[in-house]
Amino acid sequence: MRQSLFFLLAAVAGSSALTIPHVHPEANLLPRQSCENSATSRSCWGNYSIDTNYYDETPDTGKTVEYWLSVEEGSCAPDGYTRTCMTFNGTVPGPTLIADWGDNLVIHVTNNMQTNGTSIHWHGLRQLGTTEYDGVPGVSQCPIAPGDTMTYKFRVTQYGSTWYHSHFSLQYAEGLFGGMILNGPATADYDEDLGTLFLQDWSHIEAFTLWNTAKLGAPPTLDTGLINGTNTFDCSGSTDSNCVGGGKKFETVFESGKKYRFRVINIAIEGVFQFSIDGHTLTVIGTDLVPIVPYTTDSVQIAIGQRYDIIVEANAASGDYWLRGGWVTTCATNSNPDGMTGIVRYDASSTSDPTSTSTVTASTSCSDEPYASLVPHLSLDVGNMPTITSEDLSFTFDSYFKWTINSSSLLLDWAEPTLMKVFNGDSIFPTEYNVVAVQPSSSTATEWAVLVIQDTTGLGLNHPIHLHGHDFWVLAQTTGMFDGTASSFNTANPPRRDVATLPGNGYLALAFQLDNPGAWLVHCHIAWHASQGLSLEFVESESSISVDSADQTVFTNTCNTWNSYIPTEVWPQDDSGI
Ligand code: C2O
Repeated sequence: MRQSLFFLLAAVAGSSALTIPHVHPEANLLPRQSCENSATSRSCWGNYSIDTNYYDETPDTGKTVEYWLSVEEGSCAPDGYTRTCMTFNGTVPGPTLIADWGDNLVIHVTNNMQTNGTSIHWHGLRQLGTTEYDGVPGVSQCPIAPGDTMTYKFRVTQYGSTWYHSHFSLQYAEGLFGGMILNGPATADYDEDLGTLFLQDWSHIEAFTLWNTAKLGAPPTLDTGLINGTNTFDCSGSTDSNCVGGGKKFETVFESGKKYRFRVINIAIEGVFQFSIDGHTLTVIGTDLVPIVPYTTDSVQIAIGQRYDIIVEANAASGDYWLRGGWVTTCATNSNPDGMTGIVRYDASSTSDPTSTSTVTASTSCSDEPYASLVPHLSLDVGNMPTITSEDLSFTFDSYFKWTINSSSLLLDWAEPTLMKVFNGDSIFPTEYNVVAVQPSSSTATEWAVLVIQDTTGLGLNHPIHLHGHDFWVLAQTTGMFDGTASSFNTANPPRRDVATLPGNGYLALAFQLDNPGAWLVHCHIAWHASQGLSLEFVESESSISVDSADQTVFTNTCNTWNSYIPTEVWPQDDSGI
């Protein structure tokens, strides 16, 4: 009902001659008609639309979009404090990669660092049929050695907002990340796309240095936060020669009456944000790469790796307003929790600091947005769930603090990726690879695999859990003990996304369709926790994993170059590898 009403309104609102009233697919009265995407018909997408089941169907654009990324080390001062960073093409964030739904992406990654391997992951992309380009060292590839180039090739079968980042130890926390905008339809109209809005915690000491203490278990307090890679920091009275000053706040300009789309992305090391803009209401239209039925709110709570597509209408009195990252102080400590701000101006010539105040009630929880708010527009229920994989989360101390999944902490050997073993026909993997084999029991009907992670640590910490290679359906997300049965599962169009928070002293139950043979990591996206082994991997339908010979050659060449680099390696692996 809600969807039909939405389309009726969308059709009425459409004024362009090209706008043809949209037919709800279930109504099935007319053949599908073409409808162009515009500011007043965002649900349209040519012969496709917001109603297309994008798990089954992808537009054939016949277009290939090519990018070149250079992974570099150098100094940076995003907030006016100079330190060493790792960057894509010299900037933090790296360049935004833009493609249309259905395009082919070809991305050449050259490792121009002197003493580090690297490997780049395209967060949230399904990599349908291309598990070898998922970018996880020790799982889908060997690291790219210094001086080497690897070309990633895959099809864009989804649309919306995401990011790419190094998956090699803590590198993304040093600046190796950038945005991905995949153009497609949307569930509400807007005038302008303001692109990605990164929320990030930031340290003046490099993450690899902090690791020396962080690995012992107590996360260090980070110095500040950045919005889209920038902020100010108070260097007045500082005798520290690295505190050079000159940082800037992120700023954007609103024109009264217009609607703007922001693609809010949390890329923190450990923080949770409660994003808001003083004086403005947020309309949320997407969770990760899944369009949702729009809902309005005054703030959005976002965990690491998650994305929220948000529309903001410029309907406040003309003036300057704070845009607030909204550090949630109960989830992680930071020395500058209130300073993670940017500015929205109605007058581009204004240079004054806003005097606006927030009416948002500060969050004290570290959980996701309310489960009931996150209703996928493309309504899909979970069907056949023959097996439930239940894993206990705990911890141990073995030279450093390690998280364990069913008593085993992830530890990968970068030079022996899971896929290499798959290509060799092995079905036995090292225990510390934490491999769970899954495959459909029949070839006829669609089946879902179910993963339940139960927190048994007693620590009460929340963990943002990310799955590669799939969107998942969130069957349950609650405190307490899982009873081993499906009785607590909601299978009727539950929230669907690629990162969801495991509640402390509780459990998270996820379902994913067994439709993408490959080696797929599941991990906590808190950078310290991933390094401390909070991860497992699914090897899905191993006998059906197929990689053509050109891609096989890319894989082998990358490994050969890495293997010849190993004897000269400066920094031996000192964590799980991811
Ligand atoms: Cu953002 Cu395993 O990834």
